[in-house]
Amino acid sequence: MGSPAGTCAPDPDTMRRRLYDRLMSQVSPLVDTSVRAGDFDLSDPEFWLKPRSYREGAFHALRQQPELAFFDEWEFIDSPFPKGPGYFALTRHEDVWHVSRNPQLFISGQGSNIGDLPQEMSEFFGSMIAMDDPKHFRLRSIVSKGFTPKEVSRIEGYVLDKAKALVDDLIERFPDKECDFVTEFAAPLPLQIICEMMGIPKSDEAQIFSWTNSILGAGDPEFGGTLEALMGAAIGMFSYAQALGEDRLKNPGDDLTSVMMHAEVDGERLTAQEFGSFFILLVVAGNETTRNAISHGMRTLTQYPDQKDIWWNDWDGVTRTAVDEIVRWASPVIHFRRTATEDTMVGNTKVLAGQKVVMWYNSANRDETVWTNPHEFDVRRSLQPQQAGFGAGGPHFCLGANLARREIAVAFNEIRNRLPNMTITGEPDYLQSNFINGIKHLPCSWA
Ligand code: HEM
Repeated sequence: MGSPAGTCAPDPDTMRRRLYDRLMSQVSPLVDTSVRAGDFDLSDPEFWLKPRSYREGAFHALRQQPELAFFDEWEFIDSPFPKGPGYFALTRHEDVWHVSRNPQLFISGQGSNIGDLPQEMSEFFGSMIAMDDPKHFRLRSIVSKGFTPKEVSRIEGYVLDKAKALVDDLIERFPDKECDFVTEFAAPLPLQIICEMMGIPKSDEAQIFSWTNSILGAGDPEFGGTLEALMGAAIGMFSYAQALGEDRLKNPGDDLTSVMMHAEVDGERLTAQEFGSFFILLVVAGNETTRNAISHGMRTLTQYPDQKDIWWNDWDGVTRTAVDEIVRWASPVIHFRRTATEDTMVGNTKVLAGQKVVMWYNSANRDETVWTNPHEFDVRRSLQPQQAGFGAGGPHFCLGANLARREIAVAFNEIRNRLPNMTITGEPDYLQSNFINGIKHLPCSWA
């Protein structure tokens, strides 16, 4: 005799199907095409709390406009900085590409985020991302010595070791086979890798992690979202880095800090101060971006199980395109800004010298004139045209792009081999930000 109806446990496939159906039933339509340009304000923090479909609808509407939209800047209460003069929003792939690749016409040195900071502060936080040539060139030439293909392949081994150790840890620590994918896997992986690269002891990792959260989560209450928290974290990290740099200058080791502190360009080395600022950029840029790519990637593979099967059944054939598709899909960095140096045209719009232009990478990555079915996730999508998740070319193109691609590939390979049933089982808890497309928490199960 079989068990009475309702008492027998469903088989694992049925359970997974149910979890997945539950998740999909919560997925709203991807683009709300009823949104009209003029209905919303990209500068309003509330805009960044709206459903994703509304946001996609807003950028869709902006891409259809013949002229660039201009937005006033937001006046933040209690901000010590005056309200800026506003900016043009670049939402089309072509416009973002044009601005990114013309660094004489569109500079970074007056700020790389929307609001204006005094230049020293901008360089303090942004290091070379907020500089132009020749300063930028000199710094990039020195630090890129740590990112040569040889260096990246040197660290390949420990990228793999870290991913393996994290999965071992998941299996051991979560016998119920459920955990928060972000805090337990996607976040620690890039953090541990960057710390190892820089020669930071394991005992300091948690401190570094908390500083990066405070810097990038400045708008989010969970991370202490105040200007004081941001400044405290930046100063803490800067002093830490200066001490590390000075130590490696005297006692060189086998790490990136030593390579950078001893590298010379035209007989010049990095000062401890330059290293401090670069360290902030590197640790923040290397952590938050990659972890969000991995988190969005895992969620998307759950939502598109057919794509997951395509990838996982032809790992070597599909990985290169799948990784870039995850970065296109996630667009972990939402924008960077430039400032025009002379009167010029962007598309049909005249931009005057001194005006700000903001490159919305998320929007360039959904431009329907460039992508076939941009709102579909396709792990075999062609690498041409290039997605804009790592920037749209030009001198500031992401220095860590190849490392990030490696980390994403290794992370998913480990999941595929060791926890092939892993799925996301609930809605993401998103970071409140117009800069980083972050997921703070994301429940997963591999039951
Ligand atoms: C999926 C992961 C990542 C994404 C989406 C990403 C995205 C970006 C973007 C959009 C830029 C600005 C490009 C421009 O203005 O043209 C950038 C610059 C940069 N990224 Fe990444 N990044 C990622 C991972 C990393 C990693 C792992 C590192 C280092 C460990 C890194 C280091 C940098 C640095 C140093 C810059 C500044 C380059 C310059 O100003 O010359 N990034 N990244």
